[in-house]
Amino acid sequence: MTVPYRCLMIGAGGMAGRWAREFWTPFRDRMTFAGLVDINHGTLQATGDWLELPESARFTSVGDAFAAVEADFCCIATPPAFHQEAVELACAKGMHILSEKPVADTVEGCAAIANAVRGAGVKMMITQNYRYTPRILTLKAAVAELGGVNYVVARYASDYRVRGAWGALFRHTMAHSLLIEGGIHHFDQIRNLSGANCQTIAGWDWNPGQVHAQGKSWRGGDSFDGEPCGLFVMRMNEGVFASYEGNNLASGKTNSWRSEYYRVECDGGAAVLDRDHTVRIEERSTSGALQIREVPPVAVAWEGHLAMPAQFLDWLDGGPAPPTTLDDNLQSTAMLFGAIRASESGETIDVQKVAAELAGTA
Ligand SMILES: NC(=O)c1ccc[n+]([C@@H]2O[C@H](COP(=O)([O-])OP(=O)(O)OC[C@H]3O[C@@H](n4cnc5c(N)ncnc54)[C@H](O)[C@@H]3O)[C@@H](O)[C@H]2O)c1
Repeated sequence: MTVPYRCLMIGAGGMAGRWAREFWTPFRDRMTFAGLVDINHGTLQATGDWLELPESARFTSVGDAFAAVEADFCCIATPPAFHQEAVELACAKGMHILSEKPVADTVEGCAAIANAVRGAGVKMMITQNYRYTPRILTLKAAVAELGGVNYVVARYASDYRVRGAWGALFRHTMAHSLLIEGGIHHFDQIRNLSGANCQTIAGWDWNPGQVHAQGKSWRGGDSFDGEPCGLFVMRMNEGVFASYEGNNLASGKTNSWRSEYYRVECDGGAAVLDRDHTVRIEERSTSGALQIREVPPVAVAWEGHLAMPAQFLDWLDGGPAPPTTLDDNLQSTAMLFGAIRASESGETIDVQKVAAELAGTA
């Protein structure tokens, strides 16, 4: 590998634009941009100009970019349906990979990715930036204080009742968009907070505009072609249970991005985080009176997305593997696809069987 590491950036707009202009910026002494790809020529040129990349390093096709560019790793931030192609091309060239969540949009795509990465022996990390916000790190510290975890309650709720309100249009047109684009973060967070993997999952995702009696409209239901709402219950290992409420058509209180509600019921008390970002511990005095105390916020060197390049570059340097390697993330991804199967079949799904399918060990 060449130091500073050479990066082929896959995507130039949306989240990819933020990677190019924002998330990599503090690390420019440790990496350089060797190439940039986006199918949208205008977006490619705008970000290419901002990075001051020569024309010869700008591509409108992923295949052309991998054929022409010599790089140590690629950073993938295109929509989920396009992750597999980029990963397979990177693996063919022995390049390491930092990819936005989710791994891919199908079980088959994830399995192909796991197979390619294993075959090539490259490092692959998945972006799970919400593990590294100060509010979640503080919640984790509170949980560590309270002994064993009994169960986790997670609530995410956004008011995306207008088409396009959730950014890119694909999030409004794809099937299972709550779970594939949103829920993966919350399933990963449940694992992060409980320190447990999931055994089984049951529940439903749906669109109220489609399931209510014919002729009845649902305000904002037509904002999504697929399923914007979900309720799921999980049995984790380590004796932990969890529930997840996800809603992209929230008409009441919201708990949107970076403001989700989590309550972790523990042996010694409950740790609670809501949209005011203050972590509170609820516990009982010896006389049974409820006591609530605020937990001082944890300080963090690189927060949210910035923790991702920091951990990835350390890994390339020979440092420890980050918590959200591909192998680890297949456990969160198995919850996502287990949830979809649970909803489609109406049955309780063995998540470890899904994980084995994703890993190619089924
Ligand atoms: N971690 C987070 O907090 C977070 C937040 C939002 C999105 N994301 C993830 O980022 C990824 C991209 O989402 P987005 O919202 O930025 O989407 P987007 O549609 O806004 O932007 C994607 C960019 O990729 C380009 N593109 C699309 N297909 C391409 C292809 N085949 N080759 C090259 N370029 C292509 C588009 O032209 C666009 O510029 C998704 O995986 C999404 O889940 C993560």
